[in-house]
Amino acid sequence: MAEGAGEPAGGLTLEEMKSAAAEAGFDPELVERAAALVPHGASESVLERLIGGPLRVEQAISFPKELDEDAAVRLLSAVRSEAGRRGTGESSAVGMSWHSESEMDVVLVNAHAEANSTRVVASIDRHTGLLLTALGAAGGILASFLAAIGVAGETTISPYLVLGSGIAGSLALARAFWATSTRRVRKELDILIRTIDRSLRSGSAERPAVREALPKANLAEKLSQISEHWTPRLAARVNDTDVKLVKLQGDFVWHRHEHEDELFLVLQGRLLMQFRDREEWVEEGEYILVPRGVEHRPVAPEEVHVLLVEPSGTLNTGDVRSERTVDVVEPI
Ligand code: NI
Repeated sequence: MAEGAGEPAGGLTLEEMKSAAAEAGFDPELVERAAALVPHGASESVLERLIGGPLRVEQAISFPKELDEDAAVRLLSAVRSEAGRRGTGESSAVGMSWHSESEMDVVLVNAHAEANSTRVVASIDRHTGLLLTALGAAGGILASFLAAIGVAGETTISPYLVLGSGIAGSLALARAFWATSTRRVRKELDILIRTIDRSLRSGSAERPAVREALPKANLAEKLSQISEHWTPRLAARVNDTDVKLVKLQGDFVWHRHEHEDELFLVLQGRLLMQFRDREEWVEEGEYILVPRGVEHRPVAPEEVHVLLVEPSGTLNTGDVRSERTVDVVEPI
């Protein structure tokens, strides 16, 4: 479809469609106009407006520490494992780059050392995805056109109505598809950026203050400082794993963590851990592991005190955003 609607679409070229339209007694111009609605060959901003979402999403972060060979290797392996897709990459003392291509999009992560800092840019390019979306829309429009020819002269239904609603429907479907995939792509990029941030922090001299300030601590004393429910606090960071303390009461939201296992150790009270196919009561002194990817919902009919063990950067509501989402876990 790169050359516009002159390319074969479902076996018909635009010229063939127009002559078929003329034979059926339609205005061939209508076909031309319908074909022009399919987003291709236009400028990117027009495409983005038409399809209702960006063709390329990008996020960049700067980290106040110069990249060294060690950090570059660590960063590359973190991106590899987090991206959950095959890709190629390389790292050196001055930078790192990783690249992955799928049917729908191209993911790029580049890091390079700047004076006293590291700049990382991650982007997802979706031109292939757009082309597939456009082809889908074009197919829908072609089908509407054929349907319009089908009803011409045989019923009292206006073929223009059939064609018009077919075109509108095809475009609406394409836009809905694009909006959904835009959300997916943004989420993917968010996760990547969080991983990158985490990876750059680990091994860095700029550890969270909690690391230096924690020669010894007392659970009861720490818990007494927590008054809010469902707001985890960072007790300690062990390499790339966080140990958090949280008080729960009531129902949480259903969610899953795509890449993180979570361990819940019940310090006081009892916790009901619901899964889609079963539920488990976790009593005081017991612990439960929620593997990555498994949907779960913690429920606490009465207040329960929990110690959580999970990778740094794990979001408490996983793949869901709600008023319970805590983006920044404060040290305690
Ligand atoms: Ni969870």
